[in-house]
Amino acid sequence: MARLGDKVAIITGAGVGIGRATAKLFAQEGAKIIIAEMNTDTGEAVAEEIRGSGSGALFIATDVTDSASVEQTIAQTVKHFGRLDVLHNCAGGSIPEDAPIDTVDWDVWDHTMSLDLKGTMLCCRFAIPAMIQSGGGSIVNMSSVVALQGTSLHVYSTAKGGIISFTKSLASSYAKEGIRANAICPGIVLTDRVKGRFGDKLDELESGAGKVLSTFRMEKYPFGVGQPEDIANVALFLAADESRMVNGSYISADGGMSAY
Ligand SMILES: NC(=O)c1ccc[n+]([C@@H]2O[C@H](COP(=O)([O-])OP(=O)(O)OC[C@H]3O[C@@H](n4cnc5c(N)ncnc54)[C@H](O)[C@@H]3O)[C@@H](O)[C@H]2O)c1
Repeated sequence: MARLGDKVAIITGAGVGIGRATAKLFAQEGAKIIIAEMNTDTGEAVAEEIRGSGSGALFIATDVTDSASVEQTIAQTVKHFGRLDVLHNCAGGSIPEDAPIDTVDWDVWDHTMSLDLKGTMLCCRFAIPAMIQSGGGSIVNMSSVVALQGTSLHVYSTAKGGIISFTKSLASSYAKEGIRANAICPGIVLTDRVKGRFGDKLDELESGAGKVLSTFRMEKYPFGVGQPEDIANVALFLAADESRMVNGSYISADGGMSAY
C-alpha cells in the first residue's frame, strides 16, 4: 500500500534540490502535492512533472517569509484538495556571506532568520489550523548538521538550532490535536546550490575524501556526501503513519558527521 495514500502534502521550496526530490517521492507514495515555491518556473515544472506521472500536484507561488502569501497558500491548498495532512518546511539555506559574529554583516541575520526560521514558523502558524481541521497531521521541519556542531556559519547554525527547539515546542503543544512534528538534520547534500558553492572542489566532495571546509571534517566522513533522495527518504518516514510514535525528534542524516 502507498505510504502516503490519500494524504495532502505541502512542500515548501520544492522547485529544486531536496524539496523537489521529496515532492516526487511523496507523489510516488500516493500523496497529493502542493509545491509552495517562490520560483514560478521551477515550481510549475515540478508540479507538471508529477502530474505527468499520474499523481495530483499543484504549484502555488509562495514566499514563506511573507505572512499573507503563506496564509493564501494554505487556504488554496484546502480549497483545492479539501484537507492538509503533511507540511514539509524545506525552503531555506545558508548564504556564502555567513561568518563568525564579530565580522558577519547584519544583513545576513535578516536574510537567514527570515528565510529559515520565520519561514518555518509562519508555515506552521497557518498550516496547523488546517491540519486540526483534517484530524491531525505531520510536520517535517528542515534543520541541519550545523545545528548540532560548532561552525563558522554563526547565523545559519543559530537559525537551524532554533528550528529544533521550535519543533519540540510544536510536538508538545499539538500532540493532543494529533499533530506530530519532527526535524531532519542533513549533512552536506549535493543539490545544485551546493555544487555551485563548492565549484572546482566538487570532485573531492563527491568522493568524500577531501577536506573541503574547515567546519566539516570531511576526512572523517566515509559515507561521502548525501544526495537529495537520501533526505527525501527520511522525510517520507517522518511524514508517513509508520513513524506515529516519533514526535519532537530530529533525525541526523549526515552519514555520521555529527557523531564525531
Ligand atoms: N543542501 C545541503 O547540503 C543542506 C544541508 C543541510 C540542510 N539543508 C537544508 O535543506 C533545505 C533544502 O536545501 P537545498 O539545498 O535543497 O536548497 P536549494 O537552494 O536547492 O532549494 C531551495 C528552494 O527554496 C526556494 N526558496 C527560496 N526562498 C524561498 C522563499 N522565501 N519562499 C519559498 N521558496 C523559497 C528556492 O527557490 C529553491 O527552489 C534548506 O532548508 C537547507 O537549509 C540543506
